[in-house]
Amino acid sequence: MSDKTYPPSAEFAANAHADAATYEAMYTASVTDPEAFWGEHGKRIDWIKPYTKVKNTRYDFGDVDIKWYEDGTLNVSANCIDRHAAATPDKTAIIFEPDEPTEPARHISYRELLEQTSRMANVLKGLGVGKGDRVVLYLPMIPEAAYAMLACARIGAVHSIVFAGFSPDALGARINGCNAKVVITADEAPRGGRKTPLKTNTDKALLHGNDGVKCLVVKRTGGQTTWIDGRDFDYNALAAEASTYCTPAEMNAEDPLFILYTSGSTGQPKGVVHSSGGYLVFAAMTHQYTFDYHDNDVFWCTADVGWVTGHSYIVYGPLANGATTLMFEGVPTYPDAGRFWAVCEKHKVNQFYTAPTALRALMGQGNEWVVKYDLSSLKLLGTVGEPINPEAWNWYNDVVGGGRCPIVDTWWQTETGGHLLTPLPGATATKPGSATRPFFGVQPVVLEPTTGEEITDTAAEGVLCLRDSWPGQMRTVWGDHERFMKTYFSDYKGYYFTGDGCRRDADGYYWITGRVDDVINVSGHRMGTAEVESALVAHETVAEAAVVGYPHDVKGQGIYAYVTLMAGVEATEELRKELEKWVRTEIGPIAKPDLIQWAPGLPKTRSGKIMRRILRKIAEDDFGALGDTSTLADPSVVDDLIENRMNRA
Ligand code: WTA
Repeated sequence: MSDKTYPPSAEFAANAHADAATYEAMYTASVTDPEAFWGEHGKRIDWIKPYTKVKNTRYDFGDVDIKWYEDGTLNVSANCIDRHAAATPDKTAIIFEPDEPTEPARHISYRELLEQTSRMANVLKGLGVGKGDRVVLYLPMIPEAAYAMLACARIGAVHSIVFAGFSPDALGARINGCNAKVVITADEAPRGGRKTPLKTNTDKALLHGNDGVKCLVVKRTGGQTTWIDGRDFDYNALAAEASTYCTPAEMNAEDPLFILYTSGSTGQPKGVVHSSGGYLVFAAMTHQYTFDYHDNDVFWCTADVGWVTGHSYIVYGPLANGATTLMFEGVPTYPDAGRFWAVCEKHKVNQFYTAPTALRALMGQGNEWVVKYDLSSLKLLGTVGEPINPEAWNWYNDVVGGGRCPIVDTWWQTETGGHLLTPLPGATATKPGSATRPFFGVQPVVLEPTTGEEITDTAAEGVLCLRDSWPGQMRTVWGDHERFMKTYFSDYKGYYFTGDGCRRDADGYYWITGRVDDVINVSGHRMGTAEVESALVAHETVAEAAVVGYPHDVKGQGIYAYVTLMAGVEATEELRKELEKWVRTEIGPIAKPDLIQWAPGLPKTRSGKIMRRILRKIAEDDFGALGDTSTLADPSVVDDLIENRMNRA
């Protein structure tokens, strides 16, 4: 951690949407009279029937109910497309940069976006999809992913995107979880020169699915294999026949726009539900202010649309603002470690937004990959997904940004819809490693973890909660409002609990210290340790498993699994490989354990509870500080675990 500060340049501040005085004034207004503030800023989007009520939110445990703009009606796709297609039809909405640099990039204008989205919407209607129906998307990072999201929004269907790196099992669970009518996929997803067989994966997922799910297949590579008539539909053929206009459906502000599954500390991933009106207002406003987006800027968020970052900052936020947004199909290191910077130069990117893990990986490849490109178009850099270490921050600032570009370290979550803690680049002096201050309308509080008392001193350390609501907040867990209330509103009554720990310094700046629950953050991807454990114990040789995170130079955290085998099973190198592969196929490559330690026993209390604190310490190679082990049923297991630990300095 570093306390060096980087104030915005006078020039940047002068041209920014908000300088320091504007931020202070708007922030104060937003928390003293949220009703008036959000009533005004809700007008940034077009409403079919304007709202008369702005905020109606309750956090009483057992009765959590969040509504914004509840009597307004709108259509999200009309806001992201039609109003710009009318005003600036030829403006580029999406720049598509394919995996292979030799394949030409494509520029999709707002006019074309309207036609393509309408075609997709009409195809979906033709398959029987209507208002409120669920559609699962399992797609590469191609323009059709954006068309499909917006097409769902256009007809009032609810999309649920499954990251293309997830396994058939994970996909199947999500298709069944929301009772989807249609799954939209592609033949294959090219990524880093390799191809993921999305359609084949979907075939497997549908084997155990509900009958009657239809599969709409977009052609990407032409590498098509099996086809089931009556279930599988050729998107390109249907789209060619479909009408180029589809009337947008009138939706209520509180109608769900999408479901997105995310990992928590217990059980299987939960379907986070976002609204139409409040979500769009918040995504658009944060996009404009955090990135200081101006008309005609080219904005690039390197996330995948399978994550919330892609939802809010590749598609909904930028397009609601009439921006030009770049969609990149590939990876940072293909064909070489200069790809990000080559794309920035090629498309004259102005704002660039990525994850610290990518920066750490690229930093290790040497500066020559960066400096050979002309990065003078860059005005601002952003990070998201995990804490950024000062070394990576400094490298980003000096080598990528040439010392010219403010860095916005944005802290938020799938649940929050958009940025909650972030610098505004013309207003906030930044400190490397700190997500700095709250966005408008956001009221962070630091609580003492055990008593739940709010710490009112400026300098504080504890768990991070939020007081009151903001328009982009999730509304429920799909099909399980109880779980929503229990997960976020029961540990600390009257607040939204983020699951993160934080420190607030004497200047009132927030520093996220990481999750305080059993969620780990691997390369910026959220993973529940319980998910990996349940995948491991599903293997016939495994009796018991406990999974924890440990510090990893590039990934931020790595996955460390302690595995107890069934009696008589031999612990071999082959079995270790087999278990790694097993988790990859059960969940996906991002869940593969980095280290597996054979554990003859796990440290448990006399009541049988696994003492994770001890397992974490051993995984961190910090077993000198194990603390009190006297409550263990069998303290000797700890010695064995230390003796055979896998992560040694
Ligand atoms: C972590 C991603 C530190 C945090 C948008 C949070 C961060 C979880 C930051 C949410 C940041 C996200 N600094 N930690 N700037 N941004 N996190 O739902 O632990 O995939 O709770 O949303 O990532 O991950 P999610």
